[in-house]
Amino acid sequence: MAVKALKGFKDIVPGEVETWQFIEGTARDILHRFGCAEIKVPILEKTKLFKRSIGETTDIVEKEMYTFADRNGSSLTMRPEGTAPVLRAYIENGLHAAKPIQKLYTIGPMFRHERPQKGRLRQFHQISVEVLGTDLPRVDAELMAMAALILEELGLSASLEINSLGCPECRPSFNEALLKFIGGVDDLCEDCLRRRETNPLRVLDCKSANCQAHYKDAPSILDHLCSGCDDHFSKVKKGLDLLEVPYSVNSFMVRGLDYYTRTTFELLTNDLGAQSAVGAGGRYDGLVAQLGGPKVPGIGFAMGMERLALLLDQQEDALPESELDLFIAALGSAAQDEAFKMCQALRSIGLSIAMDHQNRSLKNQMKQAGRAKARFALIIGDEELANGQAVLRNMETKDQLDVALGGDVNDWSLELADKLFD
Ligand code: HAM
Repeated sequence: MAVKALKGFKDIVPGEVETWQFIEGTARDILHRFGCAEIKVPILEKTKLFKRSIGETTDIVEKEMYTFADRNGSSLTMRPEGTAPVLRAYIENGLHAAKPIQKLYTIGPMFRHERPQKGRLRQFHQISVEVLGTDLPRVDAELMAMAALILEELGLSASLEINSLGCPECRPSFNEALLKFIGGVDDLCEDCLRRRETNPLRVLDCKSANCQAHYKDAPSILDHLCSGCDDHFSKVKKGLDLLEVPYSVNSFMVRGLDYYTRTTFELLTNDLGAQSAVGAGGRYDGLVAQLGGPKVPGIGFAMGMERLALLLDQQEDALPESELDLFIAALGSAAQDEAFKMCQALRSIGLSIAMDHQNRSLKNQMKQAGRAKARFALIIGDEELANGQAVLRNMETKDQLDVALGGDVNDWSLELADKLFD
């Protein structure tokens, strides 16, 4: 029996890959407009990097990581997200010393052993952005505006929800109030009862309708912010208002990773079934130091590329159709030889060219040109070749014109290219 791909791991085949290239190209363009530089980091890291950053009691670390012992016994993990590896690289390569503010992005696969469903895979891809070295609220607003612009230029829309998770100074008072509140509720689900002991904030993220019914009266973290966090959050909102980025505040958004402080945000859509987040992120002012680096604040977000691709696929005419510049229909062995050389000459000056190498009938070759969505077809037979002639057909209008061949293939290839782009 043929060997199949792993569950939750997907091939991205021609026909789909064009959507991915469009997403990546659009994102790169916008990221560069905002002054971000690309960084490439390994897929495998030491397990402790993720335990220390994402948090020991998160779902990702407790149940979703692809972790295994290396041949020499050290524990390795296939990255479940991009922030921790980028920060490790930032520290290890002394990037903080090179530039006080670093804006870095990385695009690539991440791995989480979750239950696969629409928009949720075990190998998925993120466009992941980190801005390190500043805690100015305007940077938070600018980053969210950048995420919104990526969606806009892809022709997609999502709603932005924001929250503040406070800082080590004010979070304990909220945790205390929350613990007091949930301590008085007894019919919580098993997960919430466990989280109540290990990571109380995470109970607010519970999917159970029964638990959520209790939490609607829970204390709000926004009522517990210290004056520094409260002021920061107000300025982030003002920044979004100035940039005219619409948002709503959701004080129950807690995120699934423990490193966040202050601003957190999610970009949500109703068009993906259960998986509503196309992107998410937030500030992590203590994380660089926690990973052994300097005391440098940071903020970032990641977008799920599978989810963006699904949204684009649901839209008609989202992508321009890919086209071939020219199909060469060569009839006869001398014409086949000449066309073979022509393909190389025309491709080397930047045109996309195809031909049929099997000398099939003109009708069959024109069908191939149509299927390949060629803009033009060049028809050459042995006789035309002997007379230094060929016919150039515009595949859309069906207009035809005679073109002169002769002399060096490279010279008249240039002339032909001029005609195609007239
Ligand atoms: P996250 O919320 O875990 O955050 O993931 C960000 C995005 O990745 C999600 O909104 C979703 O679009 C996509 N995603 C996550 N898991 C899957 C999956 N199993 N299948 C398909 N798509 C998925 C982070 O990863 C943080 N590192 C974001 C960040 C960067 N925060 C600060 N800097």
